[in-house]
Amino acid sequence: MCGIIGYVGRENSERPLEVAREALARLQYRGYDSAGIVVANELGLSFAKRAGKLAALEEQLAAHPLPLASAAIGHTRWATHGGPTDRNAHPHMSQDGSVAVVHNGILENHALLRQELIEAGVEFQSETDTEVAAHLIARAHAAIGDLAQAMRSVARRLEGAFTLLAVAADNPHLVVGARRTSPLVVGLGEGENFLGSDVAAFIARTDQALELGQDQVVTITPESVTVTDFDGRAVEPRRFTVDWDASAAVKGGFPTFMDKEIHDQPNAVRDTLLGRVSRAGRMQLDELRIDESLLRAVDKIVVIACGTASYAGQVAKYAIEHWCRIPVEVELAHEFRYRDPVVDQQTLVVAISQSGETMDTIMAIRHAREQGAKVVAVVNTMGSTIARESDAALYTHAGPEVAVASTKAFLAQIAATYLLGLYLAEARGTMFPDEVRSVMRELDAVPAKIQRVIDGEAAIRRLASEMKDATSVLFLGRHVGYPVAMEGALKLKELAYIHAEGFAAGELKHGPIALIDQGQPVFVVVPSPRGRDVLHDKVLSNIQEVRARGARTLVVAEEGDRAAAAHADTVFWVPRTPTLLAPLVSVVPLQIFACALASAKGLDVDQPRNLAKSVTVE
Ligand code: M6R
Repeated sequence: MCGIIGYVGRENSERPLEVAREALARLQYRGYDSAGIVVANELGLSFAKRAGKLAALEEQLAAHPLPLASAAIGHTRWATHGGPTDRNAHPHMSQDGSVAVVHNGILENHALLRQELIEAGVEFQSETDTEVAAHLIARAHAAIGDLAQAMRSVARRLEGAFTLLAVAADNPHLVVGARRTSPLVVGLGEGENFLGSDVAAFIARTDQALELGQDQVVTITPESVTVTDFDGRAVEPRRFTVDWDASAAVKGGFPTFMDKEIHDQPNAVRDTLLGRVSRAGRMQLDELRIDESLLRAVDKIVVIACGTASYAGQVAKYAIEHWCRIPVEVELAHEFRYRDPVVDQQTLVVAISQSGETMDTIMAIRHAREQGAKVVAVVNTMGSTIARESDAALYTHAGPEVAVASTKAFLAQIAATYLLGLYLAEARGTMFPDEVRSVMRELDAVPAKIQRVIDGEAAIRRLASEMKDATSVLFLGRHVGYPVAMEGALKLKELAYIHAEGFAAGELKHGPIALIDQGQPVFVVVPSPRGRDVLHDKVLSNIQEVRARGARTLVVAEEGDRAAAAHADTVFWVPRTPTLLAPLVSVVPLQIFACALASAKGLDVDQPRNLAKSVTVE
């Protein structure tokens, strides 16, 4: 969850500090409880760290600048062990000041190690699990005289998930990193090298990167990168080019990243769909390195994901079952992992994740693969753990998503799972090629429709300002509108801290209707009247049921749907779109509403309280 940067260059300069500050600004979405930087030069280590958002650290750096240096490590924290205080902020120094460490993850055996160190006379300065690593590495380094070897020997003793970076006062020309389960990637520069918790840490500086595997230690110097396993055996990491545009990670004139990312959505969907049909008109998913005969033999699909990504999976279920006639189950990764799921060689697991680093999802795919299932990852972040640990990765091309609340990645995930569904349908012969092409044509028309919804955002924003004192909002939908309703509710909870629930509209009479009283706002996602009429009419009945009990009905309906408008206090029109593809447009008003309402309440839209962008601990 924390953001990490490591840098080493040739000479003493301001660059290490500049690189670290810039990276922390880009990585803030990974955690924003506190931040800190340590720089290394011939005179030793100097650090600054502060509780609170990055601005607090910047103030401290302005008041007490750090010296010129050749290396730096930096950290932005999402607190696990120990509250968000100055003392618990990273970096953590060893008692003698010879080693500094930053860490992402949880050291599960920290209590035991802490006791051992206390008995050996170490005085702890913080309540964190991380501090044990600083003392252990310093002691090993003092004994061995080699930071990488010290890191390896300590890494072997640690239990849990960790990315650790360390610098030592006696050698300011190298930074050492270790990873087990938590993410770490290497950025390759000219006469300088980088380490990052994800590629966003260094995309402004280089697009050349190396993936690190499980249980590996990396040493970067200005001229070299050396990777070994925890026992010191050399490892050849895989090189890749980062195809994200660094400018995509700046606000570009929008008040918040979320506003910008909502506006990026037509492109996110367009780019995800790009180049997926061959000249011969066949679906082509080049990244899908799974043999077609295996895909034909699949008898069940299990989608695993968390949060918004799981709602993308719920949408995919309707489309894939319809197109491919394969049963699709959608599971929250953390629930899947800790029961005894029935998966085998005939199961295709689809793991959906923006970050590619969600620990619950990582654990679930490992479990699925142990049972013999093939795993296809639908991921946005290149070089991420989920992409690397899956049998195949189908990339969404949403670009970097910085706001904690997922928007463009959600739409790109839905688009990518449609592609997967169509590809499977073609491979399994459940759709004719011309049917597949017709869906692709409809999909290609969607980005312009999303743009039209965004163009009409002023009315949604007005409603949001007017409703800023709401204390509860309900969302209803049927069929693919149901996951859209849940996503609308999640956006409002996480951004505006308003109690919100998404329900299957058909479930109303089984309980939730008791919540309706005078003035209760209820968003209703209405299916197309041209699709399955039955569905449309049933949702209209649901609107009438809640309206009859005093609800204020806020309806998302297809342009021209007069019947829906007749039952609405307010209507948000979305362009005509085939039922299965409709979530790509119908969720957009709900995203804009939540974003605008949080802004109207004066809340931090991009960094909602208690949340982090990628949840890298279970
Ligand atoms: O990076 P992932 O897609 O795996 O993240 C999954 C969820 O943590 C994420 O979608 C979360 O629910 C978002 N904050 C929702 O806006």
